[in-house]
Amino acid sequence: MEAPQLTTERLVLRPFASGVVAELHALFTDAHVRRWLLDDDVVSRAWVEGEIADSEARFSQVGCGLWSVSERSGTPIIGFVGYRPFFDPPELQLLYGLLPAFCGRGFATEAATTAVDYAFDVLHFDEVRAATDTPNQASVAVLERLGMSERRRTAEGGHGTVFFSVTAAEWQERRSRPLPVGGPRR
Ligand SMILES: CC(C)(COP(=O)(O)OP(=O)(O)OC[C@H]1O[C@@H](n2cnc3c(N)ncnc32)[C@H](O)[C@@H]1OP(=O)(O)O)[C@@H](O)C(=O)NCCC(=O)NCCS
Repeated sequence: MEAPQLTTERLVLRPFASGVVAELHALFTDAHVRRWLLDDDVVSRAWVEGEIADSEARFSQVGCGLWSVSERSGTPIIGFVGYRPFFDPPELQLLYGLLPAFCGRGFATEAATTAVDYAFDVLHFDEVRAATDTPNQASVAVLERLGMSERRRTAEGGHGTVFFSVTAAEWQERRSRPLPVGGPRR
């Protein structure tokens, strides 16, 4: 399956590609992005190249990898969203991140909504899952805005991990209501 570019009201999502290694490296080594996502590790350029290659392979094998996120008004990469395997046995998880200058505008929720739509509408997933470090409340808030439900908490990952998911049926119901971004949290 060819990796698709997706467009939202304000954003363009482009499948990770080798032409943007430097921009993605800057994104993943940003102090805000790496804090919880990467246990504050400063990843190498080779790690980013590996993520790009793995994402390309997932797009061709199962239809979903990682997308860079840019504003429709410009090409600089401001974040990422998509699916990547975690845990043992590996399980595809929704994940996202934004450079700090682009937080607080609903961009993560907007990009993640489109990634979830894609998983259900195009790939016919039964369920979309996500997990985040328990103290990463900004990430928990995104999952709650999306309408995902907390399923369990574990002590995994040093700080604890909270697991969320949404089923295809729940997402259908969720889509019938407007996205609560910009307004009070549910
Ligand atoms: C997690 C992360 C993506 C959240 O970013 P975010 O910008 O807070 O999330 P959203 O896109 O949902 O934006 C919501 C905020 O924008 C505000 N907002 C302002 N204008 C808005 C608009 N037009 N539409 C929507 N929301 C708007 C919302 O009120 C909310 O603000 P609040 O947090 O003060 O309540 C970000 O903190 C991040 O990149 N973290 C590092 C990477 C990471 O940990 N990722 C998670 C790993 S799974």
